[in-house]
Amino acid sequence: ASPLKASDATGHINWDSLGFGVEHIAPIMFRATYTAEDGWQGGLEPYGPLEMLPSAQVLNYGQSVFEGMKAQRSARGRIVLFRPEENAVRMRAGAARLSMPPPPMELYVEAVTSAVRANAAWVPPRGRGSLYLRPLLLGTGPILGLGPAPAYTLVVYAAAVGCYFKCGQLTPIDLIVEERFHRAAPGGMGGTKAAGNYSPVLMTQLAAKEQGYNDVVYLDAKTDTYLEEVSSCNIFTVTGRTIRTPPLEGTILPGVTRRSLIELARARGYTVEEVPIPVADAMEADEVFTSGTAVVVSAVGSITYQGRRRQYGELGRPSPVTLEMYEALTSLQQELDDDPFGWVVPV
Ligand code: COI
Repeated sequence: ASPLKASDATGHINWDSLGFGVEHIAPIMFRATYTAEDGWQGGLEPYGPLEMLPSAQVLNYGQSVFEGMKAQRSARGRIVLFRPEENAVRMRAGAARLSMPPPPMELYVEAVTSAVRANAAWVPPRGRGSLYLRPLLLGTGPILGLGPAPAYTLVVYAAAVGCYFKCGQLTPIDLIVEERFHRAAPGGMGGTKAAGNYSPVLMTQLAAKEQGYNDVVYLDAKTDTYLEEVSSCNIFTVTGRTIRTPPLEGTILPGVTRRSLIELARARGYTVEEVPIPVADAMEADEVFTSGTAVVVSAVGSITYQGRRRQYGELGRPSPVTLEMYEALTSLQQELDDDPFGWVVPV
């Protein structure tokens, strides 16, 4: 049997009802360990627990960065990754920021590629989802005083996933501006994909969900004026033919999807500006959307700020530029369109 076809092992999966979760974790993971003495050593193994001591650095002081990537079946009948080297570069930058050994580019790409190949049957049929890859870099060696771990673990595990927000890919999400807490501060860690950036947002996210919103959007910590990002994704506004997104100044995540949308939109004739966006301007924009590997492009249906709710476009439907960018990106990722950028990489 071709490894690219769904096998009996995945016969139980209903590809039409995939959410974003651990229900369909793929059976093989990549794991390598690092010590200064032996360098990187490892390979594929069954998905399973990681053994570490209670004194592991990551459990005590959180030395940890992660990535998110997707492998998809393309219209050309192959399994492809999207800009995998961008994720490798970002993980290496995050590793340096957290005083961890940056995994070599070749090791990272090999880890991801071999994990996809070994789990090919878990890549959903084209257009019905993707194999989400979660690379982790962890300080797993023991330490007690504050310092970097003496040993590290690189893991890549995978899961068959569909749409991130429960409402469905093209259903607009409702956001509320977070007016009390900030996600990141200048000089801090906001631009790093550190695990530690993600749990602090849970409290505000859960409170927003209780009030019926899908998520919150953060403002800059210095002036409480400008949009930063949503808990799990970057944000864009559309005004006429101008698309704006906050600049990368260290407090927001440098998203691979964000960067790709900027380039795609420019190629389609839009003016794209990476500029601070006052929340007041966002409330007056024609459209707002979010982007990320997990969320892809997600339309924003409303933003609530200081008690005022701004509704964008038609209720329950994505607005036209948002839909155009979603389609441009996903058509390219699924090889329905040509890839003049060279972003799509077969595994
Ligand atoms: C991704 O979009 O891949 C991420 O890593 C964000 C995460 C919160 C799901």
